[in-house]
Amino acid sequence: MLFNIASIVAVALTATTVTTSVEAEPTSNGNCHFDNLLVFGDSYSDIGNVYKLSNKAWPIKANYHGRFTNGPVWSEYVARDKHLKLKNYAYGGATTDSEFVQGYSGAASDLVVPGFIQQIDQLYTPKPIPKRDLASSLFVVDFQGNDYFFDPTASPTAVVANIERGIEKLVKLGAQNFLVVENIDYGAIPYFAGNATVAGLFTQAAMGQLVAYKDLERRLAKKYGRSSDAKHPFRGACHKDKKAKVTFGYYKMNDLLNHLREPKVLKRLGITDVVHGCVSNDYKTVCKDAGKYLYWDGFHPSAKVHKALGDAITELI
Ligand SMILES: *[C@@H]1O[C@H](CO)[C@@H](O)[C@H](O)[C@H]1NC(C)=O
Repeated sequence: MLFNIASIVAVALTATTVTTSVEAEPTSNGNCHFDNLLVFGDSYSDIGNVYKLSNKAWPIKANYHGRFTNGPVWSEYVARDKHLKLKNYAYGGATTDSEFVQGYSGAASDLVVPGFIQQIDQLYTPKPIPKRDLASSLFVVDFQGNDYFFDPTASPTAVVANIERGIEKLVKLGAQNFLVVENIDYGAIPYFAGNATVAGLFTQAAMGQLVAYKDLERRLAKKYGRSSDAKHPFRGACHKDKKAKVTFGYYKMNDLLNHLREPKVLKRLGITDVVHGCVSNDYKTVCKDAGKYLYWDGFHPSAKVHKALGDAITELI
């Protein structure tokens, strides 16, 4: 079997309880309480799907337990801090739709991985997740540029259209709460940073995607209603409000990286290298002190970035 079932990692501190309500319930601070965190994405979110698919051959052993970084990824902090059951559908190398551009992973880039549209199919394989579980779940969609990596001619508008199609597919299945993690500047990652021409093209794609996300935000707001609280999009919504049957939050990850690059912040975090990965682009050498790096390897942010991202998303939801 090519696509293994997504791993289900229970991080909740309390014992599993039976969900009786059909909708997410407000908590004492007014935020919606979710039961599950369902994550769709690529290597920025994968907590072991590619590792399993590759029989533990990829990513390399220097990484943290099959993550594409040197520590837990952002969703693991969010699940722990918000007591959510984390369900990981993300695969390293995933694109937004395998039929649009096929994504790959593995040392030789020969492992076929499911894109966003195909990851959604795992929700009912081998058996469907009950609708009420979907309604009390937060769906996170986080795709960071593999479409362009595997096809440099891919258009950002088409990439975001795939994301929109996936979201609509999930809404039809019963999803009611979405957090879209918007993209970073792909041109700034170590793998591209050494070649200004290539970096420029990837930055252009990234900026195009951010513009396409703005349009997506407008379209979804028009169709489903806008959350009344941009800082806490899920506050008070909880779908008791008929005007907003589906709620969307957006996280601007590129703004976070720009913030982390500020000298004061770098100093506080003890990061001194924002250009290279701790692991070299060819994966042959690993640095001595990963804590000094913004990037873990040629493509991926380091554990410190994941912690900051996790904290920021915990704050948002
Ligand atoms: C940058 O990458 C392009 C495309 O792979 C290549 O043609 C060009 O020679 C590279 N430039 C440098 C300075 O390495």
